Amino acid sequence: MVGKPKVVLGVSGGIAAYKACELLRRLTESGHEVRVVPTAASLNFVGEATWAALSGNPAGTEVWESVHEVPHVRIGQGADLVVVAPATADLLAKAAHGLADDLLTNTLLTARCPVVFAPAMHTEMWEHPATQENVATLRRRGAVVIEPAVGRLTGKDTGKGRLPDPEEIFEVCRHVLGRRGPASGAAGPDLAGRHVVISAGGTREPLDPVRFLGNRSSGKQGYALARTAVARGARVTLVAANTALADPAGADVVRVGTALQLREAVLKAAADADAVVMAAAVADFRPAEYAGGKIKKKDGEDPAPVALVRNPDVLAEISAERAREGQVVVGFAAETDDVLANGRAKLLRKGCDLLVVNEVGVAKTFGSEENEAVILASDGTEIPVPYGPKEALADVLWDRIAPRLAPRRA
Ligand code: CTP
Repeated sequence: MVGKPKVVLGVSGGIAAYKACELLRRLTESGHEVRVVPTAASLNFVGEATWAALSGNPAGTEVWESVHEVPHVRIGQGADLVVVAPATADLLAKAAHGLADDLLTNTLLTARCPVVFAPAMHTEMWEHPATQENVATLRRRGAVVIEPAVGRLTGKDTGKGRLPDPEEIFEVCRHVLGRRGPASGAAGPDLAGRHVVISAGGTREPLDPVRFLGNRSSGKQGYALARTAVARGARVTLVAANTALADPAGADVVRVGTALQLREAVLKAAADADAVVMAAAVADFRPAEYAGGKIKKKDGEDPAPVALVRNPDVLAEISAERAREGQVVVGFAAETDDVLANGRAKLLRKGCDLLVVNEVGVAKTFGSEENEAVILASDGTEIPVPYGPKEALADVLWDRIAPRLAPRRA
């Protein structure tokens, strides 16, 4: 890529168009050259002047403007990324069928770069078989179509169909752009058509209504895995235990508290998953009894010991009973001593395909943005991953998981 990466921001006619202003700001502020291509309908929500002023570029809607520059060909050909946010049902239908009746749809046909669609519409429109077939067509052709978020829609409705937060759409764009270029090749999304399940965070095992046994996991590594998997085209179920992080765009987030709840959610989602990655720190034990009322201290008496019982080992269970033939199962191991030896023994004990081993301490890994690890594989290979962002480790891991996945179902 020479100079600033060129991004086309397509905006179609939905109320969420206003959120695209924030996406545009993030893109320009992080050094991207952005050309906004709105549809005529979208100008009912955000005007051309806003796009032109914020991007520093013209923001026409029609191929008939500046015809001598042949804009519909030039804009698409020159783009490093096209992102359409929001993408309406109508825009998705046009894109799936190759219609080209305005500048945005023409641009989509001339673009040879990665394309990301962030749909936003009412739940019924999203779920309609016509929309679902259009989305499937676009994904089959290599586009990344981000699943809409669940939440408040226009008017009083709530449901699936919300545009994900602009910063999370930005993260997907950044990631898709980052994977282009000579080193990685302009590979299409390698996880397209895959369903992956990721657990993240740390479980909490309640002692009484105000206390629990927990751990220091922030969930950042699991969230990085979810973000990168979305950008690589996967359908992602993120089982999040007690995390305080923003939902990654496009991931289906299932919130859980305890190890037993996590087990239930992971097993349910794993039924049709191509890969399961257990990044969560799951408590091995839980209090044998839950006190319905707050446990009180009694003057002059020693505290009663807390009796614990074992929790089921979810990773071992899904490794032993794969819900689907060829399902890839990945575990994480946080170790403080004899890191590699413990990791190798754990890989055998758990029966998973890959185990990501890292050394932890109070100031290491937990809550930080960086990680350093070794990926141990059941075939004996060991891949060291140098210290770096948790997203980089996530990508190396998907690079190792992708070739192990079973052939796609028809
Ligand atoms: N794990 C799990 N269910 C549990 C405990 C752990 O699925 N009840 C998973 C974690 O998500 C992680 C992996 O197992 O992917 C490693 O967990 P860890 O607690 O380090 O392994 P243990 O077998 O409990 O080993 P240790 O003796 O070190 O606690």
